[in-house]
Amino acid sequence: MTNVKFLSGENIPLEMHKIRMVQRVHLLPVEERLLRMQEAGFNTFLLKNRDVFLDMLTDSGVNAMSENQYAAMLKADDSYAGSETFYRLEAVLRDMFGKVHFLPAHQGRACENIISRVLVKPGQVALMNYHFTTTKAHILLNGGDIEELIIDEGLNIQSDNLFKGNMDIGKLSEAINRLGKEKISFVRIEAGTNLVGGQPVSLQNMREVSSICRKAGIKLVCDASLLADNLYFIKTRETEFAHAPLKEITRELASLMDVIYFSGRKLGAARGGGILTSDDTLFAHMRELVPLFEGFLTYGGMSVREMEAMTVGLEETLDIDVISQTPIFVEALCNELIAKGISVVTPPGGLGCHIDAKQFCAHIPQAEYPSGALAAALFIASGVRGMERGTLSEQRNEDGTECLADMELVRLAIPKRVYTLSQIKYTADRIAWLFEHRHLIGGLTFTEEPTVLRFFLGRLQPLGDWPAALAKQFRKDFGESL
Ligand code: F0G
Repeated sequence: MTNVKFLSGENIPLEMHKIRMVQRVHLLPVEERLLRMQEAGFNTFLLKNRDVFLDMLTDSGVNAMSENQYAAMLKADDSYAGSETFYRLEAVLRDMFGKVHFLPAHQGRACENIISRVLVKPGQVALMNYHFTTTKAHILLNGGDIEELIIDEGLNIQSDNLFKGNMDIGKLSEAINRLGKEKISFVRIEAGTNLVGGQPVSLQNMREVSSICRKAGIKLVCDASLLADNLYFIKTRETEFAHAPLKEITRELASLMDVIYFSGRKLGAARGGGILTSDDTLFAHMRELVPLFEGFLTYGGMSVREMEAMTVGLEETLDIDVISQTPIFVEALCNELIAKGISVVTPPGGLGCHIDAKQFCAHIPQAEYPSGALAAALFIASGVRGMERGTLSEQRNEDGTECLADMELVRLAIPKRVYTLSQIKYTADRIAWLFEHRHLIGGLTFTEEPTVLRFFLGRLQPLGDWPAALAKQFRKDFGESL
């Protein structure tokens, strides 16, 4: 990150880009925000973007692209087979990760489908630092199960551990001894780790995990969707790498892995995904599934224009001023909230600011979805759209009981280079107001509950008429203000 000190001593996140194209956004009055939330079944996924003021649902596919990415889109080679665009993307990926083979896919979960179909046999277990929703769903779909081996500190909301995504080496050895190689489909490292607050994994930890897997003859898979943030944290928090070029860090990280896959909606700031490996046998098996599920091998379901943008976006990932933007804005938002007494995941990670709904809505039991209720309340209070990352995002147990999440979080994602500091401050201001009135927030219950990935399409209703009371309080406190 470029070192710029302010005379005042303040730690202000300073953008290393300027904005040359903008999109108009609208802030609806609170009464309309309430109506839109009711229509969306109290699920922020079901809101229409036109009704949202600041969209912090995710960074997936909504990062701002650079002028060089847009320029590259114009020279895309549009052919079904053998597109020059594919070979450009493949060359950049080979150079970046040092792997021999690349398989394109339309997004991250499509990679998970292919990897799980090839590597997961019924009754096997995939060991991982922590699950991601779509990853777990694909493993379960193929008859496998998962076991999470994150360090205990990873699940503490407030911590000073700089690498809360790390895998517990003791737990890994124990699991391998207990299960035996044949029962383990693969070991997976998610770097950074999404559901525990975008927390990074250290390169030292990956070295140790890789060494254990190699000795045991077990494949190591890396989910590199959040790698841009993770690279930034390796460089800034792991002293050994303070002066290492980002490319060198990426190469070493990749050399530790048998398979790397990524969502190009995050890594590379375009829309697509892909799998990398140097394992010829594994490649041959996975390759067969690409034309079946994705498209021909030289586009894999992606538009060639997106592939060109991704190629440039991946190259830009090796620029510290590009990848620092999200982490320093996440830190700025976290610090604003901490100063107001609001509990967030610390240290601030990548991806977004994660509010601790167990503190914010301590009066709401987990079975009444405190994070979902807080996400809905926040939209009513501000027009800001966040994402529930708690019990609602879990799948019910086989006996129908709730699988209570380890953490109840509301994630406010910070898409790269999209929002300004004043918009961050507005968000913090409205959250602070909501915190003062948190006892007005009540629980939610499902009216329509899908069995798989229910958080995407499920519809809920409030327990009591708390949303209306909240909107009324807002009007009382803010007068005519939007
Ligand atoms: N792995 C991780 C760590 C992710 O964060 C995601 C997506 C995926 C896999 C799946 O990739 O969406 O391209 O199919 N995360 C998004 C999010 C959806 O909002 O955090 P995808």
